Amino acid sequence: MSLCFSSNLLTLHSPKHQKNSITLSSESSQFIKFFRVSSVPYALPSFRRELHELLKVSRKRLKLSASLVPSEAVETAPSAFRNKSPKDTNILVVGSTGYIGKFVVKELISRGFNVIAIAREKSGIRGRNDKEATLSELKGTNVCFSDVTNLDVLEKSLDNLGVSVDVVVSCLASRSGGVRDSWKIDYEATKNSLVAGKKFGASHFVLLSAICVQKPLLEFQRAKLKFEAELMKEAEENDGFTYSIVRPTAFFKSLGGQVELVKDGKPYVMFGDGKLCACKPISEPDLASFIADCVLSEDKINKILPIGGPGKALTPLEQGEMLFQLLGKEPKFLKVPIGIMDFAIGVLDFLVKIFPSLEDAAEFGKIGRYYAAESMLILDPETGEYSAEKTPSYGNDTLEEFFARVLREGMAGQELGEQTIF
Ligand SMILES: NC(=O)c1ccc[n+]([C@@H]2O[C@H](COP(=O)([O-])OP(=O)(O)OC[C@H]3O[C@@H](n4cnc5c(N)ncnc54)[C@H](OP(=O)(O)O)[C@@H]3O)[C@@H](O)[C@H]2O)c1
Repeated sequence: MSLCFSSNLLTLHSPKHQKNSITLSSESSQFIKFFRVSSVPYALPSFRRELHELLKVSRKRLKLSASLVPSEAVETAPSAFRNKSPKDTNILVVGSTGYIGKFVVKELISRGFNVIAIAREKSGIRGRNDKEATLSELKGTNVCFSDVTNLDVLEKSLDNLGVSVDVVVSCLASRSGGVRDSWKIDYEATKNSLVAGKKFGASHFVLLSAICVQKPLLEFQRAKLKFEAELMKEAEENDGFTYSIVRPTAFFKSLGGQVELVKDGKPYVMFGDGKLCACKPISEPDLASFIADCVLSEDKINKILPIGGPGKALTPLEQGEMLFQLLGKEPKFLKVPIGIMDFAIGVLDFLVKIFPSLEDAAEFGKIGRYYAAESMLILDPETGEYSAEKTPSYGNDTLEEFFARVLREGMAGQELGEQTIF
Protein backbone atom coordinates (compact mmCIF):
# COMPACT_ATOMS: atom_id res chain seq x y z
CA MET A 1 0.00 0.00 0.00
CA SER A 2 1.23 3.43 -0.80
CA LEU A 3 1.22 6.38 1.51
CA CYS A 4 0.76 9.85 0.26
CA PHE A 5 1.78 13.03 1.97
CA SER A 6 2.11 16.66 1.33
CA SER A 7 4.28 19.19 3.01
CA ASN A 8 1.09 21.02 3.85
CA LEU A 9 0.05 17.67 4.91
CA LEU A 10 -3.13 15.81 5.32
CA THR A 11 -3.07 12.07 4.96
CA LEU A 12 -5.89 9.73 5.72
CA HIS A 13 -6.05 5.98 5.87
CA SER A 14 -9.39 4.36 5.85
CA PRO A 15 -9.38 0.97 7.56
CA LYS A 16 -12.57 0.20 5.66
CA HIS A 17 -10.86 0.82 2.40
CA GLN A 18 -7.51 -0.66 3.04
CA LYS A 19 -6.29 -0.11 -0.48
CA ASN A 20 -6.83 3.57 -0.22
CA SER A 21 -4.56 6.19 1.11
CA ILE A 22 -5.71 9.69 0.50
CA THR A 23 -3.56 12.70 0.10
CA LEU A 24 -4.69 16.23 0.42
CA SER A 25 -2.59 19.19 -0.27
CA SER A 26 -3.44 22.71 0.66
CA GLU A 27 -2.49 23.84 -2.80
CA SER A 28 -5.17 24.47 -5.33
CA SER A 29 -7.14 21.29 -5.23
CA GLN A 30 -10.74 20.73 -4.57
CA PHE A 31 -9.69 18.47 -1.75
CA ILE A 32 -7.85 21.19 -0.07
CA LYS A 33 -10.55 23.71 -0.43
CA PHE A 34 -12.84 21.09 1.02
CA PHE A 35 -10.39 20.65 3.83
CA ARG A 36 -10.06 24.32 4.48
CA VAL A 37 -13.77 24.87 4.87
CA SER A 38 -14.09 21.88 7.09
CA SER A 39 -13.25 22.45 10.71
CA VAL A 40 -13.71 18.76 11.50
CA PRO A 41 -10.52 17.08 12.70
CA TYR A 42 -9.13 14.81 9.99
CA ALA A 43 -9.43 11.63 11.90
CA LEU A 44 -13.15 11.80 12.54
CA PRO A 45 -15.03 8.97 10.81
CA SER A 46 -17.67 11.31 9.37
CA PHE A 47 -14.95 13.39 7.79
CA ARG A 48 -13.42 10.28 6.33
CA ARG A 49 -16.78 9.23 4.90
CA GLU A 50 -17.33 12.61 3.34
CA LEU A 51 -13.90 12.55 1.94
CA HIS A 52 -14.33 9.11 0.53
CA GLU A 53 -17.52 10.22 -1.18
CA LEU A 54 -15.64 13.14 -2.57
CA LEU A 55 -12.99 10.82 -3.90
CA LYS A 56 -15.60 8.86 -5.75
CA VAL A 57 -16.47 11.88 -7.81
CA SER A 58 -15.27 11.33 -11.32
CA ARG A 59 -11.54 11.85 -11.79
CA LYS A 60 -12.43 14.06 -14.69
CA ARG A 61 -13.84 16.53 -12.24
CA LEU A 62 -10.95 16.23 -9.87
CA LYS A 63 -8.15 17.79 -11.78
CA LEU A 64 -5.78 18.68 -8.96
CA SER A 65 -5.61 22.24 -9.97
CA ALA A 66 -9.00 22.59 -11.52
CA SER A 67 -11.55 25.04 -10.40
CA LEU A 68 -13.13 24.65 -7.02
CA VAL A 69 -16.53 24.11 -8.51
CA PRO A 70 -16.75 20.66 -10.11
CA SER A 71 -19.04 21.81 -12.88
CA GLU A 72 -16.43 24.29 -14.00
CA ALA A 73 -13.93 21.53 -14.73
CA VAL A 74 -13.70 20.63 -18.37
CA GLU A 75 -12.05 17.81 -20.24
CA THR A 76 -9.11 19.19 -22.12
CA ALA A 77 -7.31 18.10 -25.26
CA PRO A 78 -4.18 16.01 -24.57
CA SER A 79 -1.61 18.77 -24.81
CA ALA A 80 -3.90 21.56 -23.68
CA PHE A 81 -1.81 21.87 -20.52
CA ARG A 82 0.39 24.20 -22.54
CA ASN A 83 -2.43 26.71 -22.53
CA LYS A 84 -3.02 26.40 -18.80
CA SER A 85 -1.32 28.51 -16.21
CA PRO A 86 1.36 26.71 -14.16
CA LYS A 87 -0.88 26.70 -11.10
CA ASP A 88 -3.34 24.58 -13.05
CA THR A 89 -0.71 22.18 -14.35
CA ASN A 90 0.02 18.95 -12.50
CA ILE A 91 3.53 17.60 -12.87
CA LEU A 92 4.45 14.15 -11.69
CA VAL A 93 8.13 13.96 -10.75
CA VAL A 94 9.77 10.54 -10.37
CA GLY A 95 13.31 10.44 -9.03
CA SER A 96 12.34 13.51 -7.00
CA THR A 97 14.76 12.68 -4.18
CA GLY A 98 17.90 12.45 -6.30
CA TYR A 99 20.75 14.93 -6.76
CA ILE A 100 19.05 16.55 -9.78
CA GLY A 101 15.46 15.57 -8.94
CA LYS A 102 15.47 17.65 -5.73
CA PHE A 103 16.46 20.75 -7.68
CA VAL A 104 13.95 20.04 -10.43
CA VAL A 105 11.21 19.86 -7.82
CA LYS A 106 12.32 23.21 -6.32
CA GLU A 107 12.48 24.84 -9.73
CA LEU A 108 9.04 23.60 -10.77
CA ILE A 109 7.56 24.84 -7.51
CA SER A 110 9.20 28.22 -7.93
CA ARG A 111 7.59 28.45 -11.38
CA GLY A 112 4.20 27.85 -9.79
CA PHE A 113 3.44 24.30 -10.97
CA ASN A 114 1.60 21.71 -8.88
CA VAL A 115 4.18 19.04 -8.21
CA ILE A 116 3.35 15.48 -7.25
CA ALA A 117 6.64 13.99 -6.09
CA ILE A 118 6.94 10.21 -5.99
CA ALA A 119 9.34 9.03 -3.30
CA ARG A 120 10.35 5.91 -1.41
CA GLU A 121 9.66 5.63 2.30
CA LYS A 122 13.42 5.45 2.77
CA SER A 123 14.93 7.79 0.21
CA GLY A 124 18.31 9.29 -0.57
CA ILE A 125 21.74 7.70 -0.61
CA ARG A 126 21.53 4.31 1.12
CA GLY A 127 17.97 5.17 2.16
CA ARG A 128 19.17 7.54 4.87
CA ASN A 129 16.11 9.83 4.76
CA ASP A 130 12.98 8.72 6.54
CA LYS A 131 9.54 9.98 5.61
CA GLU A 132 9.82 13.11 7.73
CA ALA A 133 13.13 14.06 6.20
CA THR A 134 11.76 13.41 2.71
CA LEU A 135 8.69 15.52 3.37
CA SER A 136 10.84 18.34 4.61
CA GLU A 137 13.17 18.06 1.60
CA LEU A 138 10.27 18.08 -0.84
CA LYS A 139 8.40 20.89 0.86
CA GLY A 140 5.79 22.54 -1.32
CA THR A 141 4.94 19.38 -3.26
CA ASN A 142 2.38 16.65 -2.80
CA VAL A 143 4.65 13.82 -1.77
CA CYS A 144 3.35 10.41 -2.71
CA PHE A 145 5.20 7.50 -1.13
CA SER A 146 5.01 4.73 -3.66
CA ASP A 147 7.05 2.24 -5.66
CA VAL A 148 8.06 3.14 -9.21
CA THR A 149 9.42 -0.35 -9.73
CA ASN A 150 5.92 -1.81 -9.45
CA LEU A 151 3.44 -0.55 -12.02
CA ASP A 152 0.36 -1.75 -10.12
CA VAL A 153 1.46 -0.05 -6.93
CA LEU A 154 2.33 3.15 -8.76
CA GLU A 155 -1.01 3.23 -10.56
CA LYS A 156 -2.90 2.58 -7.35
CA SER A 157 -1.04 5.40 -5.64
CA LEU A 158 -2.02 7.80 -8.41
CA ASP A 159 -5.55 6.47 -8.38
CA ASN A 160 -5.76 7.12 -4.67
CA LEU A 161 -4.57 10.65 -5.17
CA GLY A 162 -7.60 11.24 -7.35
CA VAL A 163 -5.83 13.71 -9.58
CA SER A 164 -4.88 13.86 -13.20
CA VAL A 165 -1.35 14.30 -14.51
CA ASP A 166 -0.38 16.73 -17.25
CA VAL A 167 3.36 16.13 -17.51
CA VAL A 168 5.76 13.50 -16.18
CA VAL A 169 9.34 14.50 -15.39
CA SER A 170 11.69 11.60 -14.76
CA CYS A 171 14.97 12.06 -12.91
CA LEU A 172 15.15 8.37 -12.04
CA ALA A 173 18.49 6.64 -12.14
CA SER A 174 20.05 3.52 -10.73
CA ARG A 175 21.91 4.57 -7.60
CA SER A 176 24.50 1.85 -8.08
CA GLY A 177 24.99 1.64 -11.85
CA GLY A 178 24.96 -2.16 -11.43
CA VAL A 179 23.70 -4.27 -14.31
CA ARG A 180 20.36 -5.44 -12.95
CA ASP A 181 19.62 -2.23 -11.09
CA SER A 182 20.21 -0.20 -14.24
CA TRP A 183 17.64 -2.21 -16.17
CA LYS A 184 15.26 -2.13 -13.21
CA ILE A 185 15.39 1.68 -12.82
CA ASP A 186 16.73 3.35 -15.96
CA TYR A 187 14.47 1.21 -18.10
CA GLU A 188 11.64 -0.56 -16.21
CA ALA A 189 10.80 1.96 -13.50
CA THR A 190 11.08 4.83 -15.99
CA LYS A 191 8.77 2.93 -18.33
CA ASN A 192 6.33 2.40 -15.45
CA SER A 193 6.23 6.14 -14.88
CA LEU A 194 5.42 6.66 -18.57
CA VAL A 195 2.65 4.05 -18.57
CA ALA A 196 1.16 5.26 -15.28
CA GLY A 197 1.55 8.92 -16.21
CA LYS A 198 -0.23 8.38 -19.52
CA LYS A 199 -3.01 6.45 -17.84
CA PHE A 200 -3.69 9.46 -15.65
CA GLY A 201 -3.65 11.93 -18.49
CA ALA A 202 -0.02 12.92 -19.11
CA SER A 203 0.61 14.17 -22.62
CA HIS A 204 4.24 15.21 -22.22
CA PHE A 205 7.23 13.39 -20.77
CA VAL A 206 10.51 15.06 -19.84
CA LEU A 207 13.34 12.57 -19.44
CA LEU A 208 16.63 13.24 -17.72
CA SER A 209 19.02 11.04 -19.67
CA ALA A 210 22.79 11.45 -20.21
CA ILE A 211 25.00 12.66 -23.05
CA CYS A 212 27.10 9.52 -22.78
CA VAL A 213 24.35 7.37 -24.31
CA GLN A 214 25.67 8.59 -27.68
CA LYS A 215 28.36 5.94 -27.31
CA PRO A 216 26.70 3.14 -25.36
CA LEU A 217 29.21 0.71 -23.90
CA LEU A 218 27.67 0.35 -20.44
CA GLU A 219 24.52 -1.39 -19.27
CA PHE A 220 22.86 1.71 -17.80
CA GLN A 221 23.39 3.49 -21.12
CA ARG A 222 21.74 0.62 -23.02
CA ALA A 223 18.84 0.66 -20.55
CA LYS A 224 18.41 4.42 -21.01
CA LEU A 225 18.57 4.13 -24.79
CA LYS A 226 15.91 1.43 -24.81
CA PHE A 227 13.59 3.69 -22.85
CA GLU A 228 14.41 6.71 -25.04
CA ALA A 229 13.50 4.67 -28.13
CA GLU A 230 10.18 3.57 -26.63
CA LEU A 231 9.38 7.11 -25.54
CA MET A 232 9.98 8.43 -29.05
CA LYS A 233 7.85 5.62 -30.49
CA GLU A 234 5.06 6.56 -28.10
CA ALA A 235 5.11 10.11 -29.46
CA GLU A 236 5.19 8.87 -33.04
CA GLU A 237 2.18 6.65 -32.55
CA ASN A 238 0.08 8.90 -30.33
CA ASP A 239 -1.03 12.19 -31.67
CA GLY A 240 -0.82 14.83 -28.98
CA PHE A 241 1.79 12.99 -26.91
CA THR A 242 5.20 14.65 -26.81
CA TYR A 243 8.58 14.29 -25.11
CA SER A 244 11.79 16.15 -24.36
CA ILE A 245 14.89 14.05 -23.77
CA VAL A 246 17.56 15.98 -21.85
CA ARG A 247 21.09 14.63 -22.18
CA PRO A 248 23.39 16.62 -19.87
CA THR A 249 27.16 16.55 -19.72
CA ALA A 250 28.96 15.98 -16.40
CA PHE A 251 27.47 17.10 -13.10
CA PHE A 252 29.57 19.04 -10.62
CA LYS A 253 29.42 16.17 -8.12
CA SER A 254 31.22 13.92 -10.60
CA LEU A 255 34.16 16.33 -10.76
CA GLY A 256 34.44 17.40 -7.14
CA GLY A 257 35.72 14.15 -5.65
CA GLN A 258 39.36 15.27 -5.48
CA VAL A 259 38.88 18.81 -4.18
CA GLU A 260 39.23 18.00 -0.49
CA LEU A 261 42.09 15.55 -1.11
CA VAL A 262 44.05 18.16 -3.02
CA LYS A 263 43.31 20.71 -0.32
CA ASP A 264 44.86 18.21 2.13
CA GLY A 265 48.04 18.15 0.07
CA LYS A 266 47.43 15.05 -2.09
CA PRO A 267 48.23 15.14 -5.82
CA TYR A 268 45.49 15.49 -8.41
CA VAL A 269 45.06 12.08 -10.06
CA MET A 270 44.31 11.83 -13.77
CA PHE A 271 44.57 9.26 -16.52
CA GLY A 272 47.08 9.51 -19.36
CA ASP A 273 48.18 13.08 -19.95
CA GLY A 274 44.96 14.46 -18.43
CA LYS A 275 43.62 15.35 -21.87
CA LEU A 276 41.91 12.09 -22.76
CA CYS A 277 38.46 13.54 -22.15
CA ALA A 278 36.68 16.84 -21.59
CA CYS A 279 33.28 18.06 -20.46
CA LYS A 280 31.21 21.20 -19.99
CA PRO A 281 30.03 20.66 -16.42
CA ILE A 282 26.59 21.86 -15.41
CA SER A 283 25.28 22.66 -11.92
CA GLU A 284 22.16 21.17 -10.38
CA PRO A 285 20.21 24.48 -10.38
CA ASP A 286 21.13 25.25 -14.00
CA LEU A 287 20.18 21.78 -15.19
CA ALA A 288 16.98 21.89 -13.16
CA SER A 289 16.11 25.17 -14.82
CA PHE A 290 16.71 23.68 -18.28
CA ILE A 291 14.55 20.68 -17.41
CA ALA A 292 11.78 22.96 -16.14
CA ASP A 293 11.98 24.89 -19.44
CA CYS A 294 11.20 21.59 -21.19
CA VAL A 295 7.76 21.47 -19.60
CA LEU A 296 6.35 24.35 -21.61
CA SER A 297 8.90 25.40 -24.27
CA GLU A 298 7.49 24.50 -27.65
CA ASP A 299 10.95 24.53 -29.20
CA LYS A 300 11.95 21.62 -26.96
CA ILE A 301 9.10 19.33 -28.02
CA ASN A 302 10.06 15.93 -29.45
CA LYS A 303 13.75 16.70 -29.29
CA ILE A 304 16.87 15.14 -27.89
CA LEU A 305 18.58 17.98 -26.06
CA PRO A 306 22.27 17.62 -25.19
CA ILE A 307 23.21 20.30 -22.70
CA GLY A 308 26.29 21.54 -20.87
CA GLY A 309 27.10 24.36 -18.50
CA PRO A 310 28.59 27.76 -19.35
CA GLY A 311 32.15 28.38 -20.54
CA LYS A 312 34.63 26.28 -22.42
CA ALA A 313 35.06 22.52 -22.20
CA LEU A 314 37.54 21.43 -19.54
CA THR A 315 39.92 18.47 -19.51
CA PRO A 316 40.92 16.80 -16.21
CA LEU A 317 44.28 18.56 -16.53
CA GLU A 318 42.58 21.95 -16.76
CA GLN A 319 40.29 21.08 -13.85
CA GLY A 320 43.32 20.15 -11.75
CA GLU A 321 45.15 23.37 -12.70
CA MET A 322 42.06 25.38 -11.77
CA LEU A 323 41.97 23.71 -8.39
CA PHE A 324 45.64 24.37 -7.59
CA GLN A 325 45.24 27.97 -8.69
CA LEU A 326 42.30 28.43 -6.32
CA LEU A 327 44.40 26.94 -3.53
CA GLY A 328 47.40 29.07 -4.44
CA LYS A 329 49.54 25.92 -4.56
CA GLU A 330 52.06 24.54 -7.06
CA PRO A 331 50.28 21.95 -9.26
CA LYS A 332 51.06 18.35 -8.28
CA PHE A 333 49.70 15.66 -10.61
CA LEU A 334 49.68 11.89 -10.49
CA LYS A 335 49.33 10.58 -14.05
CA VAL A 336 48.01 7.03 -14.19
CA PRO A 337 48.33 5.03 -17.43
CA ILE A 338 44.87 4.14 -18.73
CA GLY A 339 46.25 0.65 -19.47
CA ILE A 340 46.03 -0.11 -15.74
CA MET A 341 42.26 0.13 -15.95
CA ASP A 342 42.18 -2.05 -19.05
CA PHE A 343 44.19 -4.69 -17.20
CA ALA A 344 41.88 -4.58 -14.17
CA ILE A 345 38.78 -4.81 -16.40
CA GLY A 346 40.30 -7.75 -18.29
CA VAL A 347 40.89 -9.59 -15.00
CA LEU A 348 37.36 -8.85 -13.76
CA ASP A 349 35.80 -9.92 -17.07
CA PHE A 350 37.65 -13.22 -16.79
CA LEU A 351 36.58 -13.72 -13.16
CA VAL A 352 32.92 -12.97 -13.94
CA LYS A 353 32.85 -16.06 -16.13
CA ILE A 354 33.74 -18.16 -13.08
CA PHE A 355 32.00 -16.05 -10.42
CA PRO A 356 28.88 -14.43 -11.95
CA SER A 357 28.33 -12.54 -8.70
CA LEU A 358 31.23 -10.28 -9.75
CA GLU A 359 29.09 -8.94 -12.59
CA ASP A 360 28.57 -5.55 -10.95
CA ALA A 361 32.22 -5.19 -9.92
CA ALA A 362 33.20 -5.73 -13.57
CA GLU A 363 30.58 -3.20 -14.66
CA PHE A 364 31.90 -0.59 -12.17
CA GLY A 365 35.37 -1.10 -13.63
CA LYS A 366 33.98 -0.41 -17.10
CA ILE A 367 32.14 2.67 -15.84
CA GLY A 368 35.40 4.01 -14.39
CA ARG A 369 37.26 3.30 -17.62
CA TYR A 370 34.55 4.94 -19.70
CA TYR A 371 34.62 8.24 -17.81
CA ALA A 372 38.40 8.28 -17.68
CA ALA A 373 38.62 8.35 -21.46
CA GLU A 374 35.33 9.47 -23.04
CA SER A 375 34.38 13.12 -23.31
CA MET A 376 30.97 14.30 -22.18
CA LEU A 377 30.45 16.36 -25.32
CA ILE A 378 28.56 16.00 -28.59
CA LEU A 379 29.94 13.09 -30.56
CA ASP A 380 30.14 13.20 -34.33
CA PRO A 381 29.12 9.65 -35.31
CA GLU A 382 30.93 9.90 -38.61
CA THR A 383 34.32 11.06 -37.39
CA GLY A 384 34.06 9.62 -33.89
CA GLU A 385 35.31 13.01 -32.60
CA TYR A 386 33.82 14.91 -29.69
CA SER A 387 33.05 18.59 -30.25
CA ALA A 388 33.02 21.23 -27.53
CA GLU A 389 31.73 23.83 -30.00
CA LYS A 390 28.70 21.77 -30.94
CA THR A 391 27.79 21.11 -27.30
CA PRO A 392 25.19 23.69 -26.24
CA SER A 393 25.71 25.69 -23.04
CA TYR A 394 23.12 26.78 -20.54
CA GLY A 395 23.12 28.54 -17.19
CA ASN A 396 25.52 30.61 -15.15
CA ASP A 397 27.23 28.45 -12.54
CA THR A 398 30.88 27.65 -13.23
CA LEU A 399 33.03 24.78 -12.07
CA GLU A 400 35.50 27.28 -10.66
CA GLU A 401 32.83 28.73 -8.37
CA PHE A 402 31.84 25.21 -7.39
CA PHE A 403 35.44 24.23 -6.54
CA ALA A 404 35.82 27.44 -4.50
CA ARG A 405 32.64 26.59 -2.59
CA VAL A 406 33.77 23.03 -1.88
CA LEU A 407 37.12 24.35 -0.65
CA ARG A 408 35.25 26.62 1.75
CA GLU A 409 32.34 24.40 2.77
CA GLY A 410 33.19 20.80 1.84
CA MET A 411 31.32 18.34 -0.37
CA ALA A 412 28.09 18.13 1.63
CA GLY A 413 25.20 17.45 -0.76
CA GLN A 414 27.58 16.45 -3.53
CA GLU A 415 28.18 12.84 -2.54
CA LEU A 416 28.44 10.38 -5.39
CA GLY A 417 26.13 8.02 -3.59
CA GLU A 418 26.29 4.31 -4.06
CA GLN A 419 28.13 4.46 -7.35
CA THR A 420 31.83 4.00 -7.56
CA ILE A 421 32.41 6.69 -10.16
CA PHE A 422 29.30 8.13 -11.77
N1 LIG B 1 26.65 12.18 -12.66
C1 LIG B 1 26.79 12.82 -13.79
O1 LIG B 1 27.79 13.51 -14.01
C2 LIG B 1 25.72 12.73 -14.84
C3 LIG B 1 25.90 13.41 -16.04
C4 LIG B 1 24.90 13.37 -17.00
C5 LIG B 1 23.75 12.65 -16.77
N2 LIG B 1 23.60 11.98 -15.60
C6 LIG B 1 22.34 11.25 -15.43
O2 LIG B 1 21.47 11.97 -14.56
C7 LIG B 1 20.52 11.10 -14.00
C8 LIG B 1 20.17 11.44 -12.56
O3 LIG B 1 21.31 11.50 -11.78
P1 LIG B 1 21.27 11.87 -10.24
O4 LIG B 1 22.70 12.03 -9.87
O5 LIG B 1 20.31 12.95 -9.94
O6 LIG B 1 20.71 10.50 -9.64
P2 LIG B 1 20.59 10.08 -8.11
O7 LIG B 1 21.02 11.19 -7.21
O8 LIG B 1 21.28 8.76 -7.97
O9 LIG B 1 19.00 9.90 -7.91
C9 LIG B 1 18.34 8.77 -8.40
C10 LIG B 1 16.85 8.91 -8.17
O10 LIG B 1 16.22 7.69 -8.61
C11 LIG B 1 15.56 7.08 -7.49
N3 LIG B 1 15.72 5.63 -7.44
C12 LIG B 1 16.85 4.92 -7.60
N4 LIG B 1 16.60 3.61 -7.38
C13 LIG B 1 15.29 3.52 -7.06
C14 LIG B 1 14.43 2.43 -6.71
N5 LIG B 1 14.87 1.15 -6.65
N6 LIG B 1 13.14 2.68 -6.42
C15 LIG B 1 12.68 3.95 -6.47
N7 LIG B 1 13.43 5.04 -6.80
C16 LIG B 1 14.72 4.81 -7.08
C17 LIG B 1 16.24 7.65 -6.26
O11 LIG B 1 15.34 7.52 -5.17
P3 LIG B 1 15.91 7.30 -3.65
O12 LIG B 1 16.28 8.67 -3.16
O13 LIG B 1 14.76 6.72 -2.95
O14 LIG B 1 17.10 6.38 -3.75
C18 LIG B 1 16.50 9.09 -6.69
O15 LIG B 1 15.33 9.84 -6.55
C19 LIG B 1 21.09 9.71 -14.23
O16 LIG B 1 20.30 9.14 -15.26
C20 LIG B 1 22.48 9.91 -14.74
O17 LIG B 1 22.86 8.92 -15.66
C21 LIG B 1 24.55 12.02 -14.64
